[in-house]
Parts: sequence; C-alpha cells; structure tokens
Amino acid sequence: MNLTVIGTGYVGLVTGTCFAEMGNKVYCVDIDEDKIENLKKGIIPIYEPHLATMVIDNQAKNNLFFTTDLKEALDNSNIIFIAVGTPQADDGSVNLDFVYVVANQIAEVISKDSLIVTKSTVPVGTGFEVKKIINENKLNNVNIDIASNPEFLKEGVAIEDCLHPDRVIIGTEDEKVANVLKELYEPFVANHDRFIFMDVKSAEMTKYVANAMLATKISFMNEIANICEKTGANVQSVRLGIGSDKRIGYKFIYAGCGYGGSCFPKDVKGLINTSVEKGYIPRILSMVDEVNETQKMVIIDKIINRFGPDLSDLTFAIWGLAFKPQTDDVRCAPSITIVSELLKRGAKIKAYDSKAIETFKREIDDENIDFTSSKYDALDNADALILITEWKEFRSLDLDELSKRLNQKIIFDGRNIYSKRIEDEGFELFQIGC
Ligand code: UDX
Repeated sequence: MNLTVIGTGYVGLVTGTCFAEMGNKVYCVDIDEDKIENLKKGIIPIYEPHLATMVIDNQAKNNLFFTTDLKEALDNSNIIFIAVGTPQADDGSVNLDFVYVVANQIAEVISKDSLIVTKSTVPVGTGFEVKKIINENKLNNVNIDIASNPEFLKEGVAIEDCLHPDRVIIGTEDEKVANVLKELYEPFVANHDRFIFMDVKSAEMTKYVANAMLATKISFMNEIANICEKTGANVQSVRLGIGSDKRIGYKFIYAGCGYGGSCFPKDVKGLINTSVEKGYIPRILSMVDEVNETQKMVIIDKIINRFGPDLSDLTFAIWGLAFKPQTDDVRCAPSITIVSELLKRGAKIKAYDSKAIETFKREIDDENIDFTSSKYDALDNADALILITEWKEFRSLDLDELSKRLNQKIIFDGRNIYSKRIEDEGFELFQIGC
C-alpha cells in the first residue's frame, strides 16, 4: 500500500518505518526541514534501539521517503496517518493545534479520495473534528473517510511493540474502511486474531484508558509502598504475592520514584480534563496524578531524613536521568524533580546516563551539575549515590569501587534494584517501600 505519515516524532517515525519494513511505500512528512534532511541521511533525532538501521535499510529499498512536501506525499498515497504531537497545554488540557493545522494543510492539497487515520493520542471527538475541517476547507472535490488507530508502543522497545502489537484497534463506523486497515495490518499480526473493531470515539478513548489504567497500577503500588514502609512490610514481597494472582499479574506493579515519559503524565491529565469539561469530576484519576507527583519527592524526603534539610555541603552522584531505561527521553522524568530539588537545597550533583545527558541538559543545565562520562566517575567524592533509572549497567555493583570513590557508603535506590545484602558490607541502603 502507499501511505503518508505526517509527523516524524516518536510515533510517526517508528510506525512509518515499520509500515515500510512490511513492504509498504511510506512517505514520512514533517515541517522541520533539518530533521527531514537528517533522516534522509539516516540521522535519527531520538535514541531508539534498531530504528536507525531500519530507517537506512528501508530508504535503500525505496520503501521509505522523507519529505517536507505534503502534496507530493498525498498525491502518492491512499491512506494518510496523522501522527503529530498533542502536548499538554498549561491548563492541563490537550493542545490540538498541530492536529488542526495538519487538517487544514491536508484540505489545501488533497486531490483524491483518501482515508485519514489519527495515530496521535487525541481526545474523544477529534477525529470527527478533523473530518469537518477538511470537508469545510478542501479545495478539490474529494471524499474523505476517517478512522482512529491508536498506537501503543513503549519507548525503548518501540520497534518490537510496533511490529508485533498485542492488539490493533481500528475505530471506524465504515466496513470498507475497516477492511482496508485490516489488510494493512494483517502482516503485523499474521496467524493471530488481534484486531479489535469499534467506533471512532471508543478507539480514541481506548488509548487514554490503557495509559490511565497502567498509570493507576503504578500509583496504587507506590501508595502501597509508602504504607509498607510505615508498617514494616516489604513492597517487593507484597508485589510477588499479589502478582501471582493471574487477575492482577506481575506487570506495572513495580514501586519506584514515580512514572514519567511523554504519555502517562500527559494522558492522565488529558483524560481528567476531558472528563471535567463534560461535567464529571474524576476522583481516582486525579489521585493517580497527585500520588505520582508526590512520589517523585519520596527520594528527597529520605535524603532530608538522613542529611537534614540543608544540603549545601553535600554532593550527590546520580545514576540515570532518562524517564526509563533504553531511551534518551527525559520528558516528565523523576530525575528533573529530584535534581531541581537537590539544587534548590544547595547540593552539588554529579550525574551519569549513557544516553540522556544531552536531552537532560536542555531541561536543566546548572553550574552545580557535573555530567560525567562513566558511572564510576560520578561517584568521586559524592556523599551518596542516588539511582533513578534502572539501566542494566547499574544493576550489578562493584562495592569495592563504590567504597573507594564515595565519601560515605550511602545509596538511595529509587527503583528497588539492589539487594539488602549490601548492608552487610557497611552500606546504608534506602529503598522505596522496603
Ligand atoms: C507508555 C505505554 O506503556 C505505551 O503503551 C504507550 O503507547 C505510551 O506510554 P512509555 O511511556 O514508553 O509507554 O513507557 P512505559 O514502559 O509504559 O513506562 C512508563 C513509566 O512508568 C516509566 O517512567 C517507568 O519507569 C514507570 N513504571 C513502569 C513504574 O514506575 N513501575 C512499573 O511497574 C512500570
């Protein structure tokens, strides 16, 4: 099939590349000329395993094209995916400016009957609004169908998620449209019945609810972790105890220093906003968000309990800045809250992350932060180590190296990856809920 994907952010770039990998001809369009020029050369704006190789290979096979020319792309495609960003506005609502600008641009250049599919996470009703904008502004007499096809990929394993989806949600009221999208996705789910068909609005809602449910599991466990600490129970044991119940499952019940990323924080707030706009005050969702915000401060509370509120003579080593391993993304990362608070209290910081230093510097670049090029360099003369992101390289500890380099043998483990056994070696270990 011939496809256009508008927006070369995380979702657009990964899905466009995966469509090409399956043998489709894909035009990826973006207004950012530098980005498009770089992509043509195989230079990827984000760190995502396997993506660069696939972008290069599929361009070489003439399956994948990058362009800023929307007309050229649309003239060559029958299905158009909208995958532009839907950031959070200051009031917590979803900013749909990019989606509506794209709808207007499509209206200006579209010259044949097409199917427009929203991949971006958009509030219920946006798909119909896109159709209205195109129909009201189109310059040529063409027929537009719309569908919602939300994306569920996780950063760090985006290619795997995209090529082997758990499910393909197709939101449309039109059987013909449903069949076209089914044909497009069949190679992704070969031999498995993973299609779920529904109306457009329910598909739009499904994306928010999936993220909100996962975020709820995490905030729930973080709250349980805090209760465990007060009562002397261990949240790690409790996690195993409840996860063994198949109805609950082991996934997304890891307590830690809070969830981050471009989806959970934004989508929980977005769903709250939609709900309030419609006159319903959501109680659970509001608490999911609130618990997460306070959870990002739990490490700080432990540091203050240990060192007192004034941290001005202290240096902290930080391992991990990305919101999770295998990505350079720091959007809404707990590291931002933790580092800001440490700096506010006068501390000095030595931080290491194999991929996220440059992206972090765009958020916070302070003279009191020394970014190091190895995990051990970050420890030199630090008064404690704070583990924020559980990259694999942090999992096994060289205790001799830690003892030699740290001023004090103290570890704040924000992801519960270390064993209590290190206390036998004279380390003080502070964890979440245990
Ligand atoms: C999420 C959804 O999983 C994905 O389906 C959707 O398309 C986009 O949003 P992503 O943001 O890439 O994906 O990351 P994910 O792996 O879901 O983790 C989100 C956050 O939750 C991370 O900060 C992670 O550290 C945290 N987390 C996850 C926990 O704190 N505990 C857990 O048990 C699981």
